[in-house]
Amino acid sequence: GLAILATSFLLLRMLAFFLARTQFPPGPCPLPILGNLLQLRFQLHPEKLSQLTRKYGSIFTVWLGSTPVVVLNGFQAVKDALVTHSEDFADRPVTPLFEDLFGDKGIISTSGHAWQQQRRFGLITLRALGMGKKVLEQRLQEEAQYLVEIFHRQNGTSFDPHVPIVRAAANVICALVFGHRFPHGDPFFQELMKAIDFGLAFVNTIWRRLYDAFPWLLRQLPGPHRKIFRYQEIVKSLICQEIERHKQRVPEDLEDFISCYLAQITKRKDDPASTFDEENLIQVIIDLFLGGTETTATTLRWALLYMIHHRDVQGEVQQELDTVLGPSRVISFKDRKLLPYTNAVLHEVQRFCSVISVGAVRKCGTATTVQGFPIQKGTIVLPNLASVLCDPEHWETPWQFNPGHFLDGEGNFVIHEAFLPFSAGHRVCLGELLAKVELFLVFAHLLREFRLRAPAGASTNERDYILWGTKQPRPYDICPLELGPRSPGLPSCLTPP
Ligand code: HEM
Repeated sequence: GLAILATSFLLLRMLAFFLARTQFPPGPCPLPILGNLLQLRFQLHPEKLSQLTRKYGSIFTVWLGSTPVVVLNGFQAVKDALVTHSEDFADRPVTPLFEDLFGDKGIISTSGHAWQQQRRFGLITLRALGMGKKVLEQRLQEEAQYLVEIFHRQNGTSFDPHVPIVRAAANVICALVFGHRFPHGDPFFQELMKAIDFGLAFVNTIWRRLYDAFPWLLRQLPGPHRKIFRYQEIVKSLICQEIERHKQRVPEDLEDFISCYLAQITKRKDDPASTFDEENLIQVIIDLFLGGTETTATTLRWALLYMIHHRDVQGEVQQELDTVLGPSRVISFKDRKLLPYTNAVLHEVQRFCSVISVGAVRKCGTATTVQGFPIQKGTIVLPNLASVLCDPEHWETPWQFNPGHFLDGEGNFVIHEAFLPFSAGHRVCLGELLAKVELFLVFAHLLREFRLRAPAGASTNERDYILWGTKQPRPYDICPLELGPRSPGLPSCLTPP
């Protein structure tokens, strides 16, 4: 009797599962419980997803366990969903881990009224600090100069630029939110970086996947997943110290994110619809670190790697920087208009490395239709941004590093409609402008100062990558040779052993 009951239950579950499938765009056949996880080798690899388009078209469904995820591939499908139906896809799905970590606070994992208020304020404040008052640009120039100093200090020896670049990107966020940078040895900064590094690494572990698959179990069990909550408490207490320091300051001093936010809390204190409070402030700061550190740092690491591989491109950038800026003029963001080739190279770096390949998941908030497929409310949607940045219908040489994608016949910079590394629509990256200023200033500062080479005998592959949250290059060493009259000759790392 029990066996018949169990078999019927199983059959009913399978029937429900296969009926559910018919409500989503067709895709590879899922297994019960595991869905397509085995086929995908437990990872949403951009190339694997692009391969599936050959069989199922630009919109298909994959099942991550029992969760259906509609994947959008290529420029047209992504544009149709995120731009044409922007409002319908403005929500973000929240996994159990993110729910336990962030609750309904901050920007990255919230939706609805709270998200709208926090995001709007974030955008306005970033614009005011960055473009209006220009305090941010000065701090970015300072940070770029610190990085130049670190490269100088290598004194001709080769080194892995990973750590200094990540620290520089984190210091940019420190400058934005706290109003100042930190020396790399500062205990506060070191603790903050340890926690951020741990958080970003944890996202890629099996423990994160297990937590999201079996939250009811993992919430009760001890294990390495507990550490993420401990690190979160450390980060929160570090941020609280900075908030307390800001409260002692003159209220008119609105030169960083915390001061602006504290003023906003006071301004809106009698508004019952206000979501401005210190808990939200802390989470927004964590979001700025999560969104703005690894992404920009990884893009810069790709940029330097591409320059090692494409010495002709590097040479042209340096020539343009020399001719337009000379060796000592302060570099500012508006200079990019005078530097069309350098600007095109940076855009091509972002296109070719597609740092956030398939990370920006959305949730359908209102039932809608994308390219003829009905999408139900609540469906999770995954735009494959890498497939947009390499869409053969939109890029002349999608698989080659080619700054010509962003130049017209006269050498003027031209933007391309399929350039969407920051995604698009209502939830487009909040830090797009800051990231662009940072990438430009750091890249121009480094290339004006150094000729970049791989150390003698080193072999690196610009197409090889590790999918570690962002799409990362494999670790590599770089040999910076000082340019101009300061350069005495070949540094030791370029001399064959
Ligand atoms: C969201 C890319 C730098 C803060 C995103 C998204 C992408 C992205 C693809 C997802 C958007 C979506 O849901 O469709 C990048 C890249 C960067 C970069 C490629 C650098 C090269 C930054 C910086 C900051 C930042 C510097 C901080 C100042 C955020 C935040 C969100 C976000 C807060 C969430 C927005 C929301 O959910 O409303 N970014 N980002 N990002 N980014 Fe960036």
